[in-house]
Amino acid sequence: MPYDNLFQPYERGTLRTAHRIAMAPLTRNRAKDTVPGDLNATYYAQRADAAILITEGTHPAAVGQGYLDIAGLHNDEQQAGWAQVADAVHAAGDARLFIQLMHCGRVAHPVYTDGEQPVAPSAIKHDGQVFTPDGMEDYVTPRALETDELAAVRDQYVDAARRAVAAGADGVELHAANGYLLHQFLSENTNERTDGYGTDVAGRIRFVVEVAEATAAAIGAERVGIRLSPGHEFNGIKETDPRATYDALLRALAPLGLAYAHVMETEPYAGYSTLEQARELWPGTLIANGGFSEEYDVAGADALVADGKVDLVAFGRRFLANPDLPARLRAGAELNEPDEDTFYSGGAKGYTDYPTLDEAQDAKAA
Ligand SMILES: Cc1cc2nc3c(=O)[nH]c(=O)nc-3n(C[C@H](O)[C@H](O)[C@H](O)COP(=O)(O)O)c2cc1C
Repeated sequence: MPYDNLFQPYERGTLRTAHRIAMAPLTRNRAKDTVPGDLNATYYAQRADAAILITEGTHPAAVGQGYLDIAGLHNDEQQAGWAQVADAVHAAGDARLFIQLMHCGRVAHPVYTDGEQPVAPSAIKHDGQVFTPDGMEDYVTPRALETDELAAVRDQYVDAARRAVAAGADGVELHAANGYLLHQFLSENTNERTDGYGTDVAGRIRFVVEVAEATAAAIGAERVGIRLSPGHEFNGIKETDPRATYDALLRALAPLGLAYAHVMETEPYAGYSTLEQARELWPGTLIANGGFSEEYDVAGADALVADGKVDLVAFGRRFLANPDLPARLRAGAELNEPDEDTFYSGGAKGYTDYPTLDEAQDAKAA
């Protein structure tokens, strides 16, 4: 069988999966007015054969929204929408559904936050631009969070995690990667705090650890994963010594017994193998993702599992374009190519209309 190692069952703690293929989180901008609905439930249910199905980045607070029509999880309507998704996924397959909690921090935008000024560790603007319905717009300078506000922000993650469980999801993934709020705390160039939540490695990792601890205490550590992208320069991040930061972070998180660490191999940015670092310091389940720097290769993923370097591999674009990715890989079948033009818009087109292998074969035969 091709990719034999990706089809070994996996078990650690309460996590049991039939194979090693997870779906990476993908923002698709199809949750109308931040509430998941029928279309989103269909999309996720189509991908319910993932071992772990990690959802699109979902804001735990209105001020954390950075893009058009991305899902939130801070009010009852959004929770009901996620319940519809969870029901559809669990009816369709064995995937463990983890909702990714993505507070955008300084890369939120007033056009999406009802005019509220975005918040961040420090008042440092991101130089880039963001798509808005009125065209591309500059980011704004965020407001630095006061020390006595941090507990409330932490509790936004906790409340969203509680809502995720109440909606029937299997857990949440804390998004501490790709330049969003938690990553902004970790990185020197976005965190100039002098109140014990910045200054040095111990200070910069502190908020992330507190969020992880509080979320794990609220819903159970086995329901909380975390995503990391050491050194990744997305969204204007520049970490000067990622190895030191993530050594300390992984060591601090290790005793919590979280469901998994989901680490992007960001070696071209970090200058060292971030997967090797995580395997060494992380005692629990390790999920790898290829990162933005290269096309991820399935044979390479299979080898990573074979060599024991990681436990599961998350695929983003390949899962986007192949709802039945595990079945296709198992069969050694051809893969649909992702259509970049419909990544972030297009309704059902480029979202729920990628054919399964059976559908593609039927269409060929017809
Ligand atoms: C359309 C699109 C949306 C994405 N949205 C998210 C997101 O919401 N959260 C996140 O952590 N990463 C997001 N990513 C990054 C992917 O999870 C993944 O790291 C990246 O695509 C590289 O993996 P791949 O080569 O398997 O696609 C996104 C990537 C793409 C292409």
